Amino acid sequence: MTTIAGPGATAYAGLMDRPVFTLTVATSADALISPATDVSTATWASAEEQALFFADIDAADWSIMGRNTHEAADKPDRHRIVFSSRVAGWQRPTQVWLDPEGATPADLAQIVATVRPLTRGLILGGTRVHDWFLAHGAIDTVHLTIEPVRFGQGVPVFGGQSEDTPLQVFRNRGFEVVEERSLNASGTSFHVLKPS
Ligand SMILES: NC(=O)c1ccc[n+]([C@@H]2O[C@H](COP(=O)([O-])OP(=O)(O)OC[C@H]3O[C@@H](n4cnc5c(N)ncnc54)[C@H](OP(=O)(O)O)[C@@H]3O)[C@@H](O)[C@H]2O)c1
Repeated sequence: MTTIAGPGATAYAGLMDRPVFTLTVATSADALISPATDVSTATWASAEEQALFFADIDAADWSIMGRNTHEAADKPDRHRIVFSSRVAGWQRPTQVWLDPEGATPADLAQIVATVRPLTRGLILGGTRVHDWFLAHGAIDTVHLTIEPVRFGQGVPVFGGQSEDTPLQVFRNRGFEVVEERSLNASGTSFHVLKPS
């Protein structure tokens, strides 16, 4: 159980169903989410991807991300749960930082409950945040956009990843494509995946 001082802090009573979580992710064709830890996705993703990304933000109650992702695109007014092993507590009225070690996805809802109920969570990454939700079996839907770029090296979707393509990354972790479409003439594609 994780207990955070400040607004919304209450002990998790174990009575709440967990929220539904969507992982939204843009990758290069070689299955990387960024060329480096401090690069914002907005600098390389297509306009079509960014439109879908902001629709996902609007549809979610809270976004969950690691410290690097938060700092790469700091948005003071957004509702964010930021994972960090070094900082904890409410850093802004709408942004709580915590170490997820020992916590569950349901605990996240309890921590933020009095500020804004968490029923629809958006997983924003990076790698260890994806790993944490995957380990908890809490990635209910994936919104995957694949951009026609190759980084060669950079930040993977998941830790220990060795696959060459984004779809293989997800298939090898138990997801299947349920919907896909082309987003533009440049070769950007969009895929919805669910646990198999
Ligand atoms: N293309 C996309 O869709 C997409 C999505 C997300 C991110 N990105 C990009 O990916 C890069 C950042 O990803 P990243 O993997 O380097 O970093 P990240 O996950 O955003 O941040 C890593 C930091 O978050 C904290 N953290 C994450 N998981 C944790 C856990 N399970 N337990 C404790 N602390 C945890 C740690 O902070 P402390 O050091 O404070 O302990 C860790 O150093 C950026 O360039 C960002 O723009 C791209």
